[in-house]
Amino acid sequence: MCGIVGYIGDRDASGIILNGLKKLEYRGYDSAGLAVIQKGKIEIRRDAGKLEKLVEMVISSPVSGTIGIGHTRWATHGVPNARNAHPHMGSTGEVVIVHNGIVENYLELKEELLAEGVNFKSDTDTETIVHLIERFYDDKTPLELAVQKSLALLKGAHGIVVLSAREPNKIITARIGNAGGVVIGYGENEMFIASDIPAILEHTREVTFLDSMQMAIVTQDTAVITTLDGDILESEKHTLPFDPVSAEKGEYRHFMQKEIHEQVRSLTDTLAGRVNFEEGKVFLDSLKLDANQANEIKKIIITGCGTAAHAGMVGKILIERITRIPTEVQIASEFRYSEPIVDQHTVVIAISQSGETADTLAAMEEGRKRGSKLWSIVNALGSQAMRIADGYISMQSGPEIGVASTKAFTAPLVDLYMLAIYLADLRGSINEKRRRELVAELRLVPDLVGKCLDREEQIENAARELKYIRNAIYLGRGINMPIAYEGALKLKEISYIHAEGYPAGEMKHGPIALIDREMPVIALVTRDPWYEKMISQVEQAKARGGNVIAVATDGDDKIASLADQVLWVPEAPWMLTSIITAIPLQMLAYHIAVLKGLDVDQPRNLAKSVTVE
Ligand code: AGP
Repeated sequence: MCGIVGYIGDRDASGIILNGLKKLEYRGYDSAGLAVIQKGKIEIRRDAGKLEKLVEMVISSPVSGTIGIGHTRWATHGVPNARNAHPHMGSTGEVVIVHNGIVENYLELKEELLAEGVNFKSDTDTETIVHLIERFYDDKTPLELAVQKSLALLKGAHGIVVLSAREPNKIITARIGNAGGVVIGYGENEMFIASDIPAILEHTREVTFLDSMQMAIVTQDTAVITTLDGDILESEKHTLPFDPVSAEKGEYRHFMQKEIHEQVRSLTDTLAGRVNFEEGKVFLDSLKLDANQANEIKKIIITGCGTAAHAGMVGKILIERITRIPTEVQIASEFRYSEPIVDQHTVVIAISQSGETADTLAAMEEGRKRGSKLWSIVNALGSQAMRIADGYISMQSGPEIGVASTKAFTAPLVDLYMLAIYLADLRGSINEKRRRELVAELRLVPDLVGKCLDREEQIENAARELKYIRNAIYLGRGINMPIAYEGALKLKEISYIHAEGYPAGEMKHGPIALIDREMPVIALVTRDPWYEKMISQVEQAKARGGNVIAVATDGDDKIASLADQVLWVPEAPWMLTSIITAIPLQMLAYHIAVLKGLDVDQPRNLAKSVTVE
């Protein structure tokens, strides 16, 4: 979950590292720190709290050098204070490390090291790694070998970056398992290392991603990629298409706000190159699928976490309706422990913005182990979920920085709709007329989304009325049921208001007892196949004195007379409904959080990429 940066070159390392960390703060913001080799000696600056504190510290006590590493932390072992902040230095003062992941056997290792007389200065698991490196780092052993020997003793998943004052011309970085990526960027006489692309995007677009069980010896002009036994590997360079500006806030107050408003563009991009509207066809070449393989599919399991899982729930409905292939949604953190029934006729589809979520990657591994085909729908290019899949659909949303996922929720909804059409077409289960009708609907997406975004004012008004609420229930049915979950999740994570998403038909089986004037009911009552049922659910809530805020289709007089407030959305084909109902709920959560003065982009206790189990 933590953010990691490294730099070696001719420029001032501390500025580049601080800048990189700024772009990674969404990965964790419990503490931040950096280490730079200054006149042959390692200098560390680190403190608890957000990056600004570290910046102030570096301003008042500057460090100067052209090689360094940095870290922004999401605490797992040890409270978020200064002594637990990374980087962690060994006892000799020669070696320093930043780490992302969990050393599962750290207690055992720590005991060994304590018995050897090592003095620990923090409560972190990370500190064991640096002491292990020092154990092996004698005069005859280069840093990379000492790192290799240490890594062989660790259990768990890790991304690390190591620096030594004795060898100030190189940085060693390594990745084991799914604890977050390591990306190496190539500049002109300078090299960059980061856990995520945004940290290095402004410097270079030429990158190499480390796979699990790989390490790299990074010098000023190159990186040698090796196995953890030191065997040199061919490294594959990628050229990133991201526009650096897209990782900036621009005119917006928060990344979340910017990302909500980017959805016309992001959804246009996710359609681009995949849909031929004239022919009424979808092309998903990156799935590497032919008609025979498509016909062999007997079951689909969609997996992911949080928002991604909610997108999967919408996908289930779309895939089953369009292809008639039985489709399940499994929460990724449960999947691997559920002894899943999958075989070579099953496709496991992982959805992930980051492509680095540990639970999702573990679910993919489980699917692989049991012989299923693996596809992913991923935003972060080159991420693990993209690389380990047999085929993928790239969301093409651009970097998503706000911790609360928005544009990376609506993109997979469109991707899953395209996937359903593509599969049905390959399997011959829809005729040309139906296919053309479905494809034609996709053309409406950017315009419908634009219309939702234009209505921000109605959302701001509603937010003003709701900012003091302490609880909320979100209700939806059918294609809007996952949107009830997603709307509630958005409110919870950035406004800290307790909210529950519920299948509306389940209300009468229990939760209706909660309804009174103090309990706002946010009901998704669009004109779709579940409309009449939702109307009666709203009636039931009103009959118990509930304060109903409906998300409803333009011109619906019935709901206007029933609900206390209506958030209007444009009329849309029902299979696209979830895209247009998600947007007002994203904006509602955003505006409530802003009115409450909360930190929208970096809500407490959360991190953008959850790379621990
Ligand atoms: C969404 O707003 C969340 N912050 C969270 O649920 C997120 O969707 C989840 O952690 C999955 O992340 P991923 O898409 O990067 O795998």
